[in-house]
Amino acid sequence: MAAPKKLYIKTYGCQMNVYDSERMAEAMAGAGYVETATPEGADMVLLNTCHIREKAAEKVYSELGRIRKLADAKRAAGDRMLVGVAGCVAQAEGEEIVRRQPLVDIVVGPQAFHRLPEMAARAVAGGGAVIDTDFPEDDKFAAPRPKARRAPAAFLTVQEGCDKFCAFCVVPYTRGAEISRPAAKVLAEARDLVARGVVEITLLGQNVNAWRGEAPDGAGRWGLGRLIRELAEIDGLKRIRYTTSHPNDMDEDLIAAHGEVDALMPYLHLPVQSGSDRVLKAMNRRHTASAYLQLIERIRAARPDLALSGDFIVGFPGETEAEFEETMALVREANYAQAYSFKYSPRPGTPAADLPMVDPDEASERLQRLQALLGAQQAAFQESCVGRTLPVLLEKPGRRAGQMIGRSPYLQAVHMHADANLAGRIVEVDIVGAGPNSLKGRLAA
Ligand code: SAH
Ligand code: SF4
Ligand code: F3S
Repeated sequence: MAAPKKLYIKTYGCQMNVYDSERMAEAMAGAGYVETATPEGADMVLLNTCHIREKAAEKVYSELGRIRKLADAKRAAGDRMLVGVAGCVAQAEGEEIVRRQPLVDIVVGPQAFHRLPEMAARAVAGGGAVIDTDFPEDDKFAAPRPKARRAPAAFLTVQEGCDKFCAFCVVPYTRGAEISRPAAKVLAEARDLVARGVVEITLLGQNVNAWRGEAPDGAGRWGLGRLIRELAEIDGLKRIRYTTSHPNDMDEDLIAAHGEVDALMPYLHLPVQSGSDRVLKAMNRRHTASAYLQLIERIRAARPDLALSGDFIVGFPGETEAEFEETMALVREANYAQAYSFKYSPRPGTPAADLPMVDPDEASERLQRLQALLGAQQAAFQESCVGRTLPVLLEKPGRRAGQMIGRSPYLQAVHMHADANLAGRIVEVDIVGAGPNSLKGRLAA
């Protein structure tokens, strides 16, 4: 038997890409490829890319520059390294990628990744770069998943694409129109994951709470709240999360589920982007700042200990100092346990790309102020956990000997001394210390 070929995958961007990378590795396993941790000497290198901000997209080209040297070394040794670009840059730039970096053999968009093995075979056969950025009708999720045991926490894509067209965002173009996977398929994949040792599932979608999947009996459609209630019935599935949500798609049933479903974790990533109604309108977000705040209030009424997360963009074209201050005011009122904030980055093809930019130094300065506020809120939340006893899902060994890392219900990393064979268990942990990004704990007596 031939030795297995080595596949190196580097993943950028959101959790959806993490899920897709897993799926691509599984597809390539069928073609005799085994994943490897470093690109040196790999038979195939695949970059699963993100197009959301300019910096993210440009990283791909600098990485390809580094890969080029490794590919040259491999060729000098009489062998070949296949180089593929997948994900959202692949979708957005297509053959332009091959023009900029002729090293690239394969360009595959996020909706065509199940065709990767066949594309790799064509690339090996020669005849130039193989490009597929279609939105095919065939189900990219259809491939069977392997049966091997796996880590206790897993992602499960239930929804893809976006119809919202926020003025700054590339996702509707790179991922295409919204689709929801049927409930029966999601439930089957979840049961399969649980059978393989998974105890926590994070449901994924660019707009996951817009999920409206066909009901298992074919009669009508379910919303995400209903899906979560059904998932919670799976024996052995202890924790459920979902990300990312749009405020306008938080319906009553989903809000109620936060109070009624024990397995649904008290953490919600609900981006608002700005606290100014004028900016929100220009962004095409279709809700006001006060509607968002009222929504948070209703979700917290259902689940008072909810840890809130969000995304913010500062320096959207036309944002004034006073409008930025409205974002600061919203943050003070909403109180985030953690959040992501970005300087606006104009993206080709989006409506906002043609608008005049805010002065870059001004935007940087606003970002610093926002991050200082969000950082202080996060620190306060971290501190508030000290002295509490939290159920922690032990995931993997920590950096130091005898140490394990787990997750709190609020998605915080928790470090503690624990036996490695406790991985996959949910244990009670006394929280004894807090850092900006993790907690320190001790197994409770
Ligand atoms: N579907 C999610 C988020 C998708 S992108 C939602 O609706 O909120 C993740 C985050 O990247 C966004 O929430 C936004 O804060 C940020 N982002 C998207 N486009 C951006 C751009 N052009 N410049 C800066 N940040 C951007
Ligand atoms: Fe992008 Fe807006 Fe869709 Fe989120 S809702 S993916 S920010 S277009
Ligand atoms: Fe990036 Fe595409 Fe995700 S642009 S954030 S990888 S959907």
